[in-house]
Amino acid sequence: MAQIVIKAKNLSKSYNGFNSVNGIDFEVESSQCFGFLGPNGAGKTTTMKMIYCLSPITEGELKIYDMTPEKCAAKIKSIIGVVPQDNNLDPQLTVGENLVIYARFFGLPPNLYKPRIKELISFMELDKKMDSPIRELSGGMKRRLVILRALLHNPRILILDEPTTGLDPQVRHLIWEKLRELKSSGVTMLLTTHYLEEASQLCDQLVIMDKGRILMAGNPHKLVAEHLSKYVMELSLNGNLCADQFRFDRPKCYTEVYGSRCYVYSDSEQFLSLTAEEFNLESKLIRNSTLEDLFLKLTGRGLSQ
Ligand SMILES: Nc1ncnc2c1ncn2[C@@H]1O[C@H](COP(=O)(O)OP(=O)(O)OP(=O)(O)O)[C@@H](O)[C@H]1O
Ligand SMILES: [Mg+2]
Repeated sequence: MAQIVIKAKNLSKSYNGFNSVNGIDFEVESSQCFGFLGPNGAGKTTTMKMIYCLSPITEGELKIYDMTPEKCAAKIKSIIGVVPQDNNLDPQLTVGENLVIYARFFGLPPNLYKPRIKELISFMELDKKMDSPIRELSGGMKRRLVILRALLHNPRILILDEPTTGLDPQVRHLIWEKLRELKSSGVTMLLTTHYLEEASQLCDQLVIMDKGRILMAGNPHKLVAEHLSKYVMELSLNGNLCADQFRFDRPKCYTEVYGSRCYVYSDSEQFLSLTAEEFNLESKLIRNSTLEDLFLKLTGRGLSQ
């Protein structure tokens, strides 16, 4: 049976009476990539901060390898690598200097950290930047450096809070590749992301959160298969076309409308094509349902404060 690395039960965090995290339960298995998805303000970063002992829990239970943050914060911090949501590199220092300071913070002696830095800087393809000041790095290079820095002390758990936000597709794919390698080397990963494609590609299990609670949990591909029809047709509604037309006597499908967009779900691609022909729909898109469709179905397409 797989080892449980992190276990949360009724985990809660409140700030001045406001519940940022409101009684969540989850279990993370060893060598898994476990995702936390949710709209802005859902409580993802707050959950991460409780796990890496930056923020004390308000209520409930949290265990990391049978250790609690209250009693064993120093030990827990020593086995977790953290990639925070915001890069917190020292802009006055070079890449190498940033890494040495961090390595010393973890108590690594030079005979350990020097080869480790060399190995990781080449793993993250930043070799040529060793002596560059941080301000001369691009956003993607900084992000790769923060991931590299989190790996210096060889952590068993890696927390990645939006590791690829704002990066171009090439860098994002490079980081995904590196994270897959880390996972297969046995590192347990906790990932928050707003890129549903990223979650589909990397996560073995995930939770979808909103307003401090977990709405749904499971394997991303199974969740999509269980909760959505296989295909979706996207339409733009206009004066000639209204969603009600698709709602009548069509047991093989269901429809969702958001503003001027209409989404018709069905397990039969042929049925959607025939419907498109019948209504003479030219500007339609028929595609497989995705985790993004499920996310939006659960959390709504509008913004909530
Ligand atoms: N230090 C704090 N003091 C007061 N409220 C806070 C604090 N940190 C977070 N919050 C509140 O807790 C809620 C959850 O915030 P959190 O940062 O965990 O969200 P998130 O899911 O990570 O969102 P995002 O996707 O925007 O990063 C928000 O309503 C936020 O305003
Ligand atoms: Mg966050």
